[in-house]
Amino acid sequence: MYSLKLKQHVDSAGDAEQVSGEPLWTEAVLPGCPVRAVLCVTAAVTVLLGLLWLYRLIFCPLLLRRRLDEVGYVTEKQRSRAQVANEVRRRRKTGDLPPVYPNGWYRILDSSMLERGDVKDVTVLGQQVAVFRGLDGRVYALDAYCPHLGANLAVGGRVVGNCIECPFHGWQFGGNDGKCVKIPYAEKVPHFAKVRPWPSCEVNNQILVWFHCDGEDPEWTVPEQQEITEGQWVYRGRTEHFINAHIQELPENIGDFAHLNFLHTPGFISGTDLRFTGTRICTFLQHIWKAQWEPESEPNKHCSRMFLQHTLTVFGQHFSLLDVHVVARQVQSNQITGTH
Ligand code: FES
Ligand SMILES: [Fe+2]
Repeated sequence: MYSLKLKQHVDSAGDAEQVSGEPLWTEAVLPGCPVRAVLCVTAAVTVLLGLLWLYRLIFCPLLLRRRLDEVGYVTEKQRSRAQVANEVRRRRKTGDLPPVYPNGWYRILDSSMLERGDVKDVTVLGQQVAVFRGLDGRVYALDAYCPHLGANLAVGGRVVGNCIECPFHGWQFGGNDGKCVKIPYAEKVPHFAKVRPWPSCEVNNQILVWFHCDGEDPEWTVPEQQEITEGQWVYRGRTEHFINAHIQELPENIGDFAHLNFLHTPGFISGTDLRFTGTRICTFLQHIWKAQWEPESEPNKHCSRMFLQHTLTVFGQHFSLLDVHVVARQVQSNQITGTH
């Protein structure tokens, strides 16, 4: 609109001095235009980003990742996290050790991460596993490395029926028992051509594999949690904390509620560094915990329940907004489901 007005003045007057006593080049009109446009665009982009952030916050599942140093892992001065972690690992190697990993079921994927015909390369308990969903809809897990020349079946491998085909020379291995069923350029398949199958199951929208240090078959099954399978509990996201500890230590810590009122009384604002959480400044905010633990009876002896109550006090006054009542079910020692 502004540029049209200017053109009319120039055409009719023949110069850029003055028409009807008004200056043709009004300072307020042209220079303000790009500034206002920039402001408008900035405001629009800010509002859009804000709406996007709000949408993701409310409607998208949470994925919060926290690094080692955000969850209380303190490195020594002038040494990197990697150097400290390596030294800790070296120290732990001395002495007699129990089997490195406890026997049991381990969650490796969510069901939604593996469509029919998909293959995933999974690292679990220090081993490489090719996990795939056959065309029958079942999940299969095999050692990832091909017995022929060692290609990783999960990197470029293809699902054929309920088998996986190696990306290198096309040998095909059955999902059930890991035996080679076809070599495209040979008529016979040698009997030793097979990969180790991992017992696997799919329950509560999760895919799990069984590990036993002596290779024994599964000793129990993972119980179905009806609230999940019937859709009463809806997936809202997860947090992933990177922790420098043995895999068994964390589930054992969850069952150890003697430490709750000793270690976790200081308010959450005092941080996670244990050298400073007890400082007096933060004592106006305190957590109070009550917990009880019960094993389940047969046939679910590998399960237990924890009843946990949490309250928060501010300057000694109970602040009920943050009251939390949790019933957590611990399956074996490495899977936990719960309700508030
Ligand atoms: S390496 Fe797998 S078929 Fe050759
Ligand atoms: Fe703790």
